[in-house]
Formats: sequence, C-alpha cells, structure tokens
Amino acid sequence: MDVIVEQKILPNKDFEAAWDAIKVNPMVKERLLSQAILSLQMRQKFSFEQVPMHGLILMSGPPGTGKTTLARGLADRIAKALGKAQYVQLDAHALGSSSLGKSQKEVSKIFTQTIPELAMSMPAIILLDEVETLAADRQRMSLEANPIDAHRATDAALAGIDLLCRKHRNTLLIATTNYPKAVDRALLSRADWIEDIGPPNAEARTEIILEILELLGREWPKFGQLKTHIAAFVHASEGMDGRRLRKAMTSAAAISIETAKDPNKVTRDNVLETLKRASTQADIVEAA
Ligand SMILES: Nc1ncnc2c1ncn2[C@@H]1O[C@H](COP(=O)(O)OP(=O)(O)OP(=O)(O)O)[C@@H](O)[C@H]1O
Ligand SMILES: [Mg+2]
Repeated sequence: MDVIVEQKILPNKDFEAAWDAIKVNPMVKERLLSQAILSLQMRQKFSFEQVPMHGLILMSGPPGTGKTTLARGLADRIAKALGKAQYVQLDAHALGSSSLGKSQKEVSKIFTQTIPELAMSMPAIILLDEVETLAADRQRMSLEANPIDAHRATDAALAGIDLLCRKHRNTLLIATTNYPKAVDRALLSRADWIEDIGPPNAEARTEIILEILELLGREWPKFGQLKTHIAAFVHASEGMDGRRLRKAMTSAAAISIETAKDPNKVTRDNVLETLKRASTQADIVEAA
C-alpha cells in the first residue's frame, strides 16, 4: 500500500467539478477558501512564533456529507488563487501502520524529503483523508505482537505533519474525519480552522434534487417534469446525507422492473416512496 495515493498538478477539471458538486452554504465554501489563502500568506510573511498558524484545515462530519469531495475542490480553488499547486493525497492507514510495510524511516522520508521537494517549485496542498485512522490504528496496534515499530511509524507521521506546518511554509494540509473523537488531540489543536460539515439543509437538498432531475431529464424527460414536486421531495429527504440523497433520487427508477427498463415511467409517488425507504436506510447506517 502506497502512502501517496494520488498526485496531480492543479487546477484540474475533475477537481473543479468536485467544488461545484457539493451543495453547502456558500459561506462555508468562502470561509474554507479564505482560511487557506490567509494561512498560506501569513506563514510566508511571519515566523511561527509571531503568528502561530499551522496551515491545517480540518473538515469534520458524518459519512457521505461531501468532505472528501469538498477537500479536493478546495485544493483546486486554492491552486487557482495561487496560479498553480501540487496536490498530494496521503493514505492515513498506510501512514499509521508499519505492518503494511511502512517503516518509520519511509514515513519520515515522505515528510522530510518527498513533500518538501514537491513544494520547492510550487505550493503543495496535502490531503490527509480519514485522519482518525492515524490515531485509531495507534490504539489497535498496542494489541499487536510487535507494536513498537508501528507506533514509531505513526509518531513519525505526526512529527512529519508538525514539521510541514512549521518549516515548509508553502504547504497546506487539509484533513477530513467522520470521527473527530478518535483524532489525535495534538492534531486537532493544530488545526487553524475546523469546519463541521453536516447533512445538507433544505436549500442544499433543493439544489441537489434539481441537479439530478435535470441531468436525468436530459435522457428521460419525465424526470425533468418531476421538478414541479420539488417541495415534497425536499421535505421527504430531511436529515439524509448528500450521498444517500443522490443515490435515492436515482434509485426511484428501480421501484419496479418496468420503470428500471424505462425510467421515463417514473412517477412522483415512486420518488417519494424511495426517499422514504432511503431515510430508513440512513437510520441503519447511523446505528451501525
Ligand atoms: N452536500 C452535498 N451536496 C451534493 N452532493 C453531496 C453532498 N454531500 C455528499 N454528496 C454526494 O456524495 C458523494 C460522496 O461524498 P464524499 O465521499 O465527499 O463524502 P465524505 O463526507 O467524504 O464521506 P465519508 O465520510 O464516508 O468519507 C459526493 O460525491 C456527492 O455526490
Ligand atoms: Mg471521505
């Protein structure tokens, strides 16, 4: 398992689409972007002792609320604001586990050499997705036969994050978690900004539903006509996360073999029934 799972020069079209795909209060997007730009700027001008900004932004929230997607979109927006940037996504599981073949030395190298080298020619934006796995793996490791090495790998990762924060000032870390309680306290306290991303509100759900109906309506006009019932759909999807909502809207056509074969036969009641059942599925996920 590689520690670096993706590496790209931004801006990039796919990443740009990610920013638009997630419907949240525009103030949330603006805050995230402003925070990132400010942090990079401040750290160029002042020493850490003068302005203790770590260049770490954390997005926290339940599964399926768009954190990873928004983080990728944010990276793209930051790159646009700066001209261009290097994007690197690290695998938190691989970082925290020597049993996967990552020694402390290898992990250190990523932070002391690989990323600083990438950041020499242009700013580097590092995504640390599901950062709680760093801490969670550390706890689980104590049960393993030879945990010392693994502990060292995790410690090296945390030290590496610290090093980037302080020494390499044109790097910015974006971390995500759906379990903030499991995130190492030391890491939490370093975040310049923590954004709590919740399930989409009525406004965001309206946007998501309209977008899907329009998209499917291009192929099957009946979907487009269902837009007149948007208020009922928004009401029925209260509390649902964005991922489940997108799935449920599309799955409305799977209510019967007949509609699956010809989605143009889908009705308002089919959509409402599917949304109702998907809400129960959301409860199952919650309880798990
Ligand atoms: N607020 C939203 N607006 C529009 N789409 C959304 C929203 N939230 C989630 N989605 C949809 O759900 C998909 C999955 O989102 P993503 O993987 O970014 O969520 P996540 O919060 O990282 O989940 P996890 O915690 O499980 O990793 C997105 O690609 C998008 O299609
Ligand atoms: Mg995610």
